[in-house]
Amino acid sequence: MAFTGAGASAEAGIPTFRGKGGLWDKYKPEELATPHAFSKDPKKVWEWYKWRMSIISRAKPTRAHEVLAKWEERGILMGVVTQNVDGLHQVAGSKNVVELHGSVWRVRCSSCGIKYDLEFGRIPEEELPTCRRCHGLLRPDVVWFGEPIPHDQFNRAQKMFSEAEVILVIGTSGAVMPAAMLPINAAMEGKVLIEINPEETNLSSFSTIKIREPAGKAFDKLDKILWEEGSLEDR
Ligand code: OAD
Repeated sequence: MAFTGAGASAEAGIPTFRGKGGLWDKYKPEELATPHAFSKDPKKVWEWYKWRMSIISRAKPTRAHEVLAKWEERGILMGVVTQNVDGLHQVAGSKNVVELHGSVWRVRCSSCGIKYDLEFGRIPEEELPTCRRCHGLLRPDVVWFGEPIPHDQFNRAQKMFSEAEVILVIGTSGAVMPAAMLPINAAMEGKVLIEINPEETNLSSFSTIKIREPAGKAFDKLDKILWEEGSLEDR
């Protein structure tokens, strides 16, 4: 299975949160990504999300997204647990995707709780989108700081981790809990973690193999090794 973070989409032109040019260097999470920020200034929060949605809407899946989708189709990858909210795994064709932190392509009514799916690339036009049913304020259906990961998603993720033998840890700093506990617990249970990240992270010491390359480049090579050089029979 794969566990992905913002670095998996970095080569698609989507900024990461931490590190060089990271979003949290320029923006304050407490003003943009908390329930309190939304109740205080929903326009500001929506503006920021629409800006991010516009970047994502122009992005194409990277080689890493493509190869993960291909490996799932060929039956050697169980699925992906992602912290990303960009939807690029699904655009690339991945089917079994757990979105721990939600998706920007789904909104939720802050009043009645109903959820609406948005097509990939479809950015709400209204300054403040409202619920068709109760006229409450709609918010991005993402997990903000101080909010729990929805139970169903967390349970699905835990099941995938418990069934996996090898976990590809791609482009995540491992800085955000409880998501980062999933690979850490898996490593403690003796599972093999393969980290694909140009930088050292909080998860490096738990990883058996470290590939210090950008994810797109690394997956291009790994895919060639597995299929084109005949290590695995074509399935
Ligand atoms: P971070 O921004 O914390 O970390 C991105 C990681 O990607 C870093 O370790 C980089 O070294 C690595 N990286 C950068 N370019 C890469 C590339 N081309 N290939 C591979 N790796 C690359 O992102 P996350 O770990 O996903 O939460 O952050 C976790 C959570 O923190 C996010 O889901 C978000 C954020 O606050 C919420 O919004 C709740």
